[in-house]
Amino acid sequence: MRMLRVDPEHPEAAAIAEAAAVIRAGGLVAFPTETVYGLGAHALDERAVQRIYEAKGRPSYNPLIVHVADAAQAAELVTSWPPAADALARRFWPGPLTLVLPKRAVVPDAITAGLPAMALRVPAHPVALALLREAACPIAAPSANRFTELSPTTAQHVAKSLGDRVDVILDGGATSVGIESTVVDLGGPRPRVLRPGVISRAELEAVIGPLADDAQPTEGDAPRPAPGMVDRHYAPRARVLLFDAGSRDEALREATRVISGGQPVGALAFGSLPLEHVRIMPRDPRGYARRLYAELHALDDAGCALVLVERAPESAEWAGVRDRLERASR
Ligand code: TXA
Ligand code: MG
Repeated sequence: MRMLRVDPEHPEAAAIAEAAAVIRAGGLVAFPTETVYGLGAHALDERAVQRIYEAKGRPSYNPLIVHVADAAQAAELVTSWPPAADALARRFWPGPLTLVLPKRAVVPDAITAGLPAMALRVPAHPVALALLREAACPIAAPSANRFTELSPTTAQHVAKSLGDRVDVILDGGATSVGIESTVVDLGGPRPRVLRPGVISRAELEAVIGPLADDAQPTEGDAPRPAPGMVDRHYAPRARVLLFDAGSRDEALREATRVISGGQPVGALAFGSLPLEHVRIMPRDPRGYARRLYAELHALDDAGCALVLVERAPESAEWAGVRDRLERASR
């Protein structure tokens, strides 16, 4: 694996050219997006796409997000580009929003796990955009971590998880959004949120009108994997225990049990707790999202066997954070 440091705002042309050549040749390049680091491969090269699944240890029934340089390139890959797609792309691209639309035949079935629809987004990170332009092909990229592990928000997280399973890592520093993009399905009678993120339901509805109810925030992978497979998605090694005001004392008793067994315990909370490894988290959802995975990685690295996490507020703009916390705690 080659680690190439790049300036996050003005990535060096030589590093981008080297990474783009690896993509063109069917190799794997991990690169920063504004959300999390992606594990990229040429999206129209079936063999390269297979390598993503192998490197992640990810079952092939989990579809991948395809990254493109602009909305025009997205529209070329799908059989219809409805007004809602146009409106959302104009408002939120480049940015942390993924649109699901019916795919053209040129897109390999391996990308969509055999589904008729594909997921597309234009990332807002200068390094990702430079790579997309230089490679001049769509790039399939799930988060650059082994299946079920925590998503990476730094190049060091990628190296820790994937090591030599990836050919090149473009190190553009820490990502700014911190959790994965909001995924919206535009294939049904009404747009529907398949995965919440920092772009909230209200922001989407302000552009395209009412969305379908997202009964349960789900992975949105259909056909659904066996229960328990995707559940522990976004999970640290440590056991995560969610608590609120009512269950705080009980959570602290559990922490005491683990500590007396000789293992460290960490916590993410909005206020102080009588524990050694406490991270005080921001009270705004974007600030919280930016730090969430980085803090969980750090607590894993500190050897924590248990992490207490204070539940996030119930309001809609916290949906993305709440979804990741719920998953991590299963
Ligand atoms: O922020 C992000 O979206 C990051 C960065 C790297 O761009 N990428 C990411 O990719 O999270 P991935 O492959 O881990 O996300 C896959 C998710 C699925 O769980 C599902 O929610 C949705 O994207 N998805 C992908 N293809 C789909 C499809 N054909 N139909 C429905 N949902 C799909
Ligand atoms: Mg992922």
